Amino acid sequence: MSDTFKAILVSRDAEKKQSVEIVDLTEADLMDGDVTVAVEATTVNYKDGLAITGKAPVVRRWPLVPGIDFAGTVISSSHADWRKGDKVILNGWGVGETHYGAYAGRARVKGDWLVPLPDGMSPHDAMAVGTAGYTAMLAVMALERHGIAPDRGPVVVTGAAGGVGSVAISILSTLGYHVVASTGRNAESPYLIDLGAAR
Ligand SMILES: NC(=O)c1ccc[n+]([C@@H]2O[C@H](COP(=O)([O-])OP(=O)(O)OC[C@H]3O[C@@H](n4cnc5c(N)ncnc54)[C@H](OP(=O)(O)O)[C@@H]3O)[C@@H](O)[C@H]2O)c1
Repeated sequence: MSDTFKAILVSRDAEKKQSVEIVDLTEADLMDGDVTVAVEATTVNYKDGLAITGKAPVVRRWPLVPGIDFAGTVISSSHADWRKGDKVILNGWGVGETHYGAYAGRARVKGDWLVPLPDGMSPHDAMAVGTAGYTAMLAVMALERHGIAPDRGPVVVTGAAGGVGSVAISILSTLGYHVVASTGRNAESPYLIDLGAAR
């Protein structure tokens, strides 16, 4: 494996003017962490767009490699839970905001931030779900914690055709909920029904 890898780097000059460039990094350039991962897939989350354009203060240290989520393979680890070759996913934890993120060939992070890539799911599959899908699942799990079950009646998903809403419809319908999708884009109705919305 080559010692250098490509990365997107967001920097700021003395006048706080932001610039973005593609650079070559080595592992010595990465931030502290106990697991180094070969990044195989990531997403372009809304937050990443804000980070790269500088339109909102997502980046909170400079320079920074953006990218808030990734899936890949562990290259090296001193964390008890992870070994070389393990397939992992990362979502959030300030990665791409305060810690070098996914838009690089490699990422060094805390092992506590990683979750295992489920069997049968490729890194690309995981990132097709992405942080938006992960957020939808967290929301469904919160409903369950509050005792909302399919027999309690229909569930309305607002912003239905958006990233979080569309995955929420798919999860809820798979779990047996009667899902009512609320959208401002009627043309998306066939798509939402196809995802599992009852109406
Ligand atoms: N994506 C993430 O990783 C993530 C993580 C944490 C929290 N969130 C939050 O979750 C929410 C949804 O995020 P998302 O990624 O799914 O965004 P998105 O893909 O842009 O979807 C948002 C949806 O909201 C609806 N919408 C937009 N403007 C509206 C308005 N003025 N009135 C009523 N509905 C409106 C639209 O639904 P229709 O197209 O169906 O009309 C739109 O598709 C946001 O509040 C976001 O901050 C997102």
